[in-house]
Amino acid sequence: MLVTQRQSDQRQKQDLVQFKGIDYVEFYVGNARQAAHFYRTAFGFTPIAYAGLETGVRDRCSFLLQQENIRLVVTSSLIPNSAITNHVEWHGDGVYDIALQVDDAQNAFETAVARGAKPILEPTFIGSHNEYIVKATVASYEGDLVHSFIERHNYPNFLPNYQFLPTLSTSQTTGLKEIDHLVFNVELGRMNLWSNFYQTVMGFSQAQQFTNDDISTKYSALMSKVLQNNTGRIKFPINEPAEGYRKSQIQEYLDFYHGPGVQHMALRTDNIIKTVKQLKNNGVEFLQTPDTYYEKLLQRVGFLDEDVKVLQNLKILVDRDDQGYLLQIFTKPLVGRPTFFIEIIQRKGAQGFGSGNFKALFEAIELEQAQRGNL
Ligand code: FE2
Repeated sequence: MLVTQRQSDQRQKQDLVQFKGIDYVEFYVGNARQAAHFYRTAFGFTPIAYAGLETGVRDRCSFLLQQENIRLVVTSSLIPNSAITNHVEWHGDGVYDIALQVDDAQNAFETAVARGAKPILEPTFIGSHNEYIVKATVASYEGDLVHSFIERHNYPNFLPNYQFLPTLSTSQTTGLKEIDHLVFNVELGRMNLWSNFYQTVMGFSQAQQFTNDDISTKYSALMSKVLQNNTGRIKFPINEPAEGYRKSQIQEYLDFYHGPGVQHMALRTDNIIKTVKQLKNNGVEFLQTPDTYYEKLLQRVGFLDEDVKVLQNLKILVDRDDQGYLLQIFTKPLVGRPTFFIEIIQRKGAQGFGSGNFKALFEAIELEQAQRGNL
């Protein structure tokens, strides 16, 4: 009986789609040209390709930006009342598509749809016999977020109708290498539904769970589940707000994004000190960390390769789990609304997401409040 069950589990696992990684993340924005300029000058991405009127696209314009293995697309509308303008009207600039690399886009699409995903784009073949791409798209659980499945076979272009841009000598990379994870904020009571979607439809598994007790103070609380694909290369932590004395930061996002969506994208570097210095020089603004956070840092996380003074000057946070530690820092929101931001992360063994920092950060803030006699 046990063996039968195991065989059936294995068969089920073999049926699930093998995702190889994140192909690109596409943002719908108000002005793609300016967004591209921002990601180039502030974060050091290189504009690689362009699609728009000049390349035969009449309804939108897009820029592809790249840094090492990170590919971002910023897209804005050329016409009113489009899916893009609706997205921007409701959400402001935000993530629309987290595109995933697959070996077989048709199979990925059919599997996801058979398991309950809403189809957005049927598998579409573009190219010639030897050089082609297959793209298909399904909706995520809810909200205006989709996943395209991208299958590439020597296709010389990024996507159809894109034209490569001349190399810009002014682009200076900032050491960002890979997308580490993308975090979703969803409404109270919806986390398990999203989590079930990624498990049953996409074949992800739940890697970690954080409850109210792990990451909460009296003032801000949240619950989180981490979903990842079978290789662990794609990680989507999903947050839902929990009751605190004040409005949770997750609830603030939901109020201004007008629904669930991507809260932040974490980008990995091998040298966070160098990367953060460059980003600050480029004008990127980060969340402040009170100096009291660093007073208890070594006591909390143990020995570090880095000089705590340097970390303190740059306001870089540290967290440790049983496999090592990680360094991280969060930008302020990158758009007018208090919604999307970027995290810079360097991993030194640790596989977590910095949950220890929520408590340490808030406790540090509360310590300062207490010193002012306000707690
Ligand atoms: Fe994160």
